[in-house]
Amino acid sequence: MTLSTRSVSLDAPRVGGDLPGPRSAELLARQGRRESNARTYPRHLPIAIAEASGSFVTDVDGNVFIDFLAGAGVLSLGHNHPDLVRAVTDQLGLLTHGLDFPTPIKDAFVEAQLSMLSPGMRDRMKVHFCGPTGANAVDAAVKLCKTATGRGDLVSFQGGFHGSSHAAMALTGLLEQKQPVPNGMPGVHFFPYSYCSRCPMDLSPDSCDTNCVGYLERSLRDSNAGVPLPGAVILELVQGEGGVVPARADFVRRLRALTRELDIPLIVDEVQTGCGRTGTWFAFEQYDIEPDVIVASKALSGIGTPVAMILYDERLDVWAPGAHTGTFRGNQLAFAAGTAAVHVIRRDDVLGNVGRRGEQVADRLTELAVNPWVREVRGVGLMWGVELADPLSGRTAGALARRVQARALRAGLIIEVGGRDDCVLRMLPPLNVTAEVVDIACCILIDAIEECCPT
Ligand SMILES: Cc1ncc(COP(=O)(O)O)c(C=O)c1O
Repeated sequence: MTLSTRSVSLDAPRVGGDLPGPRSAELLARQGRRESNARTYPRHLPIAIAEASGSFVTDVDGNVFIDFLAGAGVLSLGHNHPDLVRAVTDQLGLLTHGLDFPTPIKDAFVEAQLSMLSPGMRDRMKVHFCGPTGANAVDAAVKLCKTATGRGDLVSFQGGFHGSSHAAMALTGLLEQKQPVPNGMPGVHFFPYSYCSRCPMDLSPDSCDTNCVGYLERSLRDSNAGVPLPGAVILELVQGEGGVVPARADFVRRLRALTRELDIPLIVDEVQTGCGRTGTWFAFEQYDIEPDVIVASKALSGIGTPVAMILYDERLDVWAPGAHTGTFRGNQLAFAAGTAAVHVIRRDDVLGNVGRRGEQVADRLTELAVNPWVREVRGVGLMWGVELADPLSGRTAGALARRVQARALRAGLIIEVGGRDDCVLRMLPPLNVTAEVVDIACCILIDAIEECCPT
């Protein structure tokens, strides 16, 4: 089978005229009439996409953008990576849908995934494929832990995001999504996360002694604190949608020690941080801990063919046959792409690139420190956020962040916002992004911030 290849190679953004352009405007209007009011991205990024390649997307009006949204972190090797396109194309003629039957390509995928774990974990982790979304895998993780422990309560963290299904939403901090939906999953207890620049305990990071985890510890040990021993604690190691907030190392290590001591399974939600996003295959590796359950999805296939799974300690494997089913658990195209993605990531030292490009972003964005509207620049690997706040009141500056986002788009850079009041500008580039593209993107972002947030 021949692959279609782009005749033009893209190396810089190019935007002419107003946005949306006329053809995008037409499709956006039609979408507005036909699709749900719950649609999100095109409201603030008003383009209709025609095609994409690597770190670039082209809209239907011929405008070219650097894509630092990358399918919300899905496209770890950029759009249409040729090795992944080839793997998917080859698989397409063989088998596409396999329920949960074993197949050679699924076997290769599982082997590739396990090979990314440390030898100790590799031998004791079991794999379960879920319906192909992060939220479905979060549901599966929670069901597994509840079943294994016989306990129905759960601990989650303020600012966390775990998806939009009923259960995943109940574990999510974002009230805007939850409030209109009565009778959410009960038994979820929210505790403060180590978001030091807006410390939930109002302490300075240097003197706090990680009181947030101390508070959780006291609550779980106190027979009068009103929190029954939970069936699981679920945590993002870097809160993504919550505004790119990396957890402090002592927070995570103490949490792991506590959950181990109290025999509470620790679920790490690596839907966004996994598959190399933070510079290691999973973010938990950087904290020197081993979780009981890992939730992975988004970038597992590297190219957007959907797949989700949980990896969990075999001692939790109490499920009866059919305990978590789903028709779309056997996407062979995703397995083919994901197997190729692991190969490319190793071959091209993509994790090394994440480290180097991450340092480049950190270095370039230091110049924002002088801007009084920039409260904090934070990130790890290729997951970066710039938090904007009113310099006088300290209040989140969400409307301003939206203006910066629009200005950046006009200059050819697609970025998302997140965090409280959407005040954090977020960059999630492909993991194989080049130094040149990072440099152009950082220039655009810095200019947009300087134009919108005068000093
Ligand atoms: C940490 C985390 N968990 C879960 C999800 C939900 O994934 P999905 O949208 O595929 O259901 C997301 C999505 O952004 C996420 O960032």
